[in-house]
Amino acid sequence: MISPTSFAYVADLLRRETAMLCEPGKEYLVEARLLPLARSAGQPDVDGYVALLGRDPSERAKAIDALTINETSWFRDLAPYQAFTEAMLPPLLEARAHVKHLEIWSAACSSGQEAYSLTMLLKENLPPGWTARIHATDVSTTMLERVRAGRYSQVEMNRGMPAQRLVTWFTRAGNEWEVSPELRSMVTTQHLNLAAPFPPMPVFDIVFLRNVLIYFDMDTKRDILRRVSTRISPDGFLLLGSSETTLDLDDAWTREAAGRVWMHRPRTAARPAAAARAPITAPALSQTGA
Ligand SMILES: C[S@@+](CC[C@H](N)C(=O)[O-])C[C@H]1O[C@@H](n2cnc3c(N)ncnc32)[C@H](O)[C@@H]1O
Repeated sequence: MISPTSFAYVADLLRRETAMLCEPGKEYLVEARLLPLARSAGQPDVDGYVALLGRDPSERAKAIDALTINETSWFRDLAPYQAFTEAMLPPLLEARAHVKHLEIWSAACSSGQEAYSLTMLLKENLPPGWTARIHATDVSTTMLERVRAGRYSQVEMNRGMPAQRLVTWFTRAGNEWEVSPELRSMVTTQHLNLAAPFPPMPVFDIVFLRNVLIYFDMDTKRDILRRVSTRISPDGFLLLGSSETTLDLDDAWTREAAGRVWMHRPRTAARPAAAARAPITAPALSQTGA
């Protein structure tokens, strides 16, 4: 088992590089994820590998990649995607009628299921003549490569991909399924650490920032939400994971309910009362499942 000193080193590295918390009790996970890297680096055990990390930046990058949690699925939790088509697209289609274009950010996109789920809904719901771009970002370069490859195993497809959309948007590629070039052309990828200053980016109409804030401490969450508020248009929407909230974190946001989810919107002079008017259909804030 990994030694306490090595574990503390790895936890500190992960926190410095990604802001992710790796608390005591996660030793088994760190061990399981680093052992294959230790073996391919010719180290006898994880402690030997951790000693190597101090001297080798490329191994450090691989270790950070291996330690990120990339759990995701197609149309994850369904309700956010319903809110996307039913509550977010209609006002934005009206408000952007002059440009006929939408910019969407899948922040912490993992292997791309979130981004490609959104492209399918856009293809099904955008009027003729409209375009949209999904900006898919993650701190893991391996995950970004997976988004660009757009290939998924049968097991991954079984996690939430409806049969009709599978036949419409994917082709067989050996043992895998490959997303159509048409959807792929709507997605751009960029390496982005949410915990560091953002690189130049467009202003977004919709931001999906789902199931990643849970890994950060309060100050980091607050800081990320504040910086996201500067990258979203005044009439835009932010969607968090079902166990994540802007409440008590940042008063730059108001919340509106759409079915079972909260949509977060920048608090603007034009819409100051939205938070006070919480609809009676508002979902429970303690809702979990992310
Ligand atoms: C659990 S997945 C969530 C994927 C997707 N958003 C979803 O809801 O299904 C979390 C993702 O956050 C990424 N991540 C972790 N720390 C990050 C950071 N500091 N900046 C950007 N992405 C980060 C991980 O690499 C991983 O792909």
